[in-house]
Amino acid sequence: MKILGVSLGTKNGNNDTMCRVALEAARDAGAEIEFIHAFDWNFDYCTGCVACSRALVMGKGMVCTRKDDYKAFYEKLQDADGVLFVDPIFESGGSGLFHTLCDRMGPGHDSGMMLGAHFQMLQEKGQGLDPRYFRQKAVSFVGIGGSDWAVRVETDHAMLAMSPGWKVVNNEFFSWCKDVIMQDDKVERMKEIGRNLVEAAREIMEDNEKMEIPVAENTKSYWKGAEGACPHCQGNNFYIYPGTTRCVCELCGLEGTLEIVDGAFKFKFDPAEEWRAHDIISGKKAHGEDIFENEGRLMDLGKDPEFKARKAYYTAVIEPTPAPSKEA
Ligand SMILES: Cc1cc2nc3c(=O)[nH]c(=O)nc-3n(C[C@H](O)[C@H](O)[C@H](O)COP(=O)(O)O)c2cc1C
Repeated sequence: MKILGVSLGTKNGNNDTMCRVALEAARDAGAEIEFIHAFDWNFDYCTGCVACSRALVMGKGMVCTRKDDYKAFYEKLQDADGVLFVDPIFESGGSGLFHTLCDRMGPGHDSGMMLGAHFQMLQEKGQGLDPRYFRQKAVSFVGIGGSDWAVRVETDHAMLAMSPGWKVVNNEFFSWCKDVIMQDDKVERMKEIGRNLVEAAREIMEDNEKMEIPVAENTKSYWKGAEGACPHCQGNNFYIYPGTTRCVCELCGLEGTLEIVDGAFKFKFDPAEEWRAHDIISGKKAHGEDIFENEGRLMDLGKDPEFKARKAYYTAVIEPTPAPSKEA
């Protein structure tokens, strides 16, 4: 049983320290622990080249054009049974580095797309993707902020678990926390989050043993946080279509309505549509098929004279200004 803590804060700052608080509690609960200070590693931006999704769609395996530490980081994530991300809150959401990790996890590690690639590769080459990549995993997130501007962060964080389809155990944020290690309630909560992660990881390990990997579908929840507004994914952020009661859960993408029941907003969706949620394999497959269709349309357009003419016309409108750091 291995728990990996990843901190995205400054060296030995609040995020590093709180991550270590949870890791110590996880070790006391019987886990082997490992800690990564994310800024020690070299993570490039995702450039949006879509080589990863194309490679999966074409059954060519896992590909990324960026040559940095991300692949080794992904392997570290794979080696862990539970992962904790502790991330400073920036502009009410996740930090820039966290978003980069999210992008890099992106379509190239989407369990729905990986499933398709796996079976295609099995058929064509007799060997699919590494079965480790399909194991379910426990993951928790904590955001730490210096003010009360924080309500986007839970959604930003849980997004990282969406692509690989990992099971979120706790997802919390601590506000007004420049002095967090002196706030005993937060330190205690962090220890609890560490213990919860060990407990959920153990449950998931047992379930992984019972299941055929890759699993076709697993909608079981290992959530140990407070009940969220979305009963499907525990998300608390919604996009409201202006002038209506219709809304979309920003995390799992389920559509429904917000209604006041017994003095509280209740998110209601059609249970027949729950299979579409983005955090379960059925929803991922549907999303993957849509992407496949869109990518295919774009690839076909590459040969279209009108498309090429429009591209050439707009490219000729203006050249980009060179970056001063790259000028000779
Ligand atoms: C660019 C930037 C944006 C920030 N935005 C927020 C914010 O929106 N809400 C908040 O509560 N704290 C915000 N903070 C404060 C950080 O969350 C805080 O400095 C950080 O958690 C300290 O962590 P560390 O000690 O691990 O480096 C911001 C800090 C920076 C540098």
